[in-house]
Amino acid sequence: MKITVRVNGVDHLREVEPRLLLSDFLRHECGLTGTHVGCEHGVCGACTILWDDEPARACLVFAVQAQGHEIRTVEGLAPGPGQLSPLQQAFQDAHGLQCGYCTPGILMTMTAFLKDNPKPDEPQVREALSGNLCRCTGYQHIVDAVLRAAAT
Ligand code: FES
Ligand code: FES
Repeated sequence: MKITVRVNGVDHLREVEPRLLLSDFLRHECGLTGTHVGCEHGVCGACTILWDDEPARACLVFAVQAQGHEIRTVEGLAPGPGQLSPLQQAFQDAHGLQCGYCTPGILMTMTAFLKDNPKPDEPQVREALSGNLCRCTGYQHIVDAVLRAAAT
């Protein structure tokens, strides 16, 4: 099928198999490898992107379904080249990552969360994080980074 998917404000016109997952479309067709793939069945959250500003699992939808929707990936978070979003900066400052595999998905989930909840408390941050698995950090520095971003 010929599809056009808008990602980070750019239209990507491709001919793809209907079964192609959005996560694979982003990585292999668009070259946007910041969207990571872990479990490929909706559990780990590594593939989380924004779908019309709402977090969604890119491994649970087909690329053809994304036509007509605004997709945003971690590559679209920074305001410009060489810059970081406030949340990305907070992750750097608070050491909110180790291997970084989970980080893009968490950044997308938390970007949407902070938009809806600009002044969250720690239990709210932990609940919002509960759909994203991290094998490395024990989560404390991730929570610290989100609270830091909210404060700034
Ligand atoms: Fe999509 Fe794990 S790769 S939720
Ligand atoms: Fe390694 Fe989260 S930083 S999985």
